Amino acid sequence: MEVKIVKDKAEGGQVAFDIIKAGIEQGAKVLGLATGSTPITLYQAMIASDLDFSNLTSINLDEYVGLPEDNPQSYHQFMKDNLFNKKPFAHSYVPNGNAADPAQAAADYETIIADNPIDIQILGIGRNGHIGFNEPGSDLDGKTHKVHLTESTIEANKRFFDREEDVPRYAISMGIGSIMKGKKILLLAYGEDKADAIKATIEGPVTNHVPASVLQNHDDAILIIDEAAASKLSK
Ligand code: GLP
Repeated sequence: MEVKIVKDKAEGGQVAFDIIKAGIEQGAKVLGLATGSTPITLYQAMIASDLDFSNLTSINLDEYVGLPEDNPQSYHQFMKDNLFNKKPFAHSYVPNGNAADPAQAAADYETIIADNPIDIQILGIGRNGHIGFNEPGSDLDGKTHKVHLTESTIEANKRFFDREEDVPRYAISMGIGSIMKGKKILLLAYGEDKADAIKATIEGPVTNHVPASVLQNHDDAILIIDEAAASKLSK
C-alpha cells in the first residue's frame, strides 16, 4: 500500500487525476467509480481536462435500493450531475437499485465486472472504514450483493436527505472481493472525520471490522489522503 499525503482535496483530486491520465495513456479502458463527496474534486479535474472518455467503460461501486434513478440522491443521478453529463463514457454501469430481484441484479453486475475487468478503481472510505457499501463485518471475498446499511452510515448520509427516514436502509454494492480484483486501486480520504478509519486501514490489522484494511493485501493500492485524514498516523 502506497500512501500519498496531500495538502487538501483539491490537490488530492489532481494527484488522482494524474494517475488516471497516465493509466489511460498506458491502455486502461475500464474505470471503477465511486460516489460521495470525496471523489468530486477528481471528477472536476476530469471534466476540466481535455481527456476523452468516450472509448472507456465505467463501473460504479454501489447504489441505494428503492430510490428512483432520477431521485437527486440516487447514485445514478449523482454520476450524471458530477461527471457523465460533461464527460460521457462508452458504457457506464451503476447497480440497479430498483430491480424486482436484487440477488439477480447483483449476479448480473458480477458478470459485467468479469466481462470488463477494472483497470483503475476509485474508492472513498466511510467513517467506519467501509468501502463501497461494504460495512464492518462484510465478507472480505464478497461479490456484489444487497447490503443492510449500518446506523453510522445512515447517520453520515442523512445530510443529503430532507429527513433521516428518507435515507434508504439498503443498497446494492460491489463486494470487497469484486473491488480487490481492480488492477490498481486509488482510495481517497479527506478531513479529520476520516482520520480514525485511515489509521486503522494503514496501521491496523487486516480485518473485516475495517473493510478498507484489506487494501494492505492488494499489490497496487494507493491511498491519497490529506493532512487532516493523516493526522492520527503514528509514522
Ligand atoms: C457512501 C458511499 C461510499 C463513500 C462514503 C463516504 O457510503 N457508498 O462509497 O466512500 O459514502 O462518503 P464521503 O466521500 O461523502 O465522505
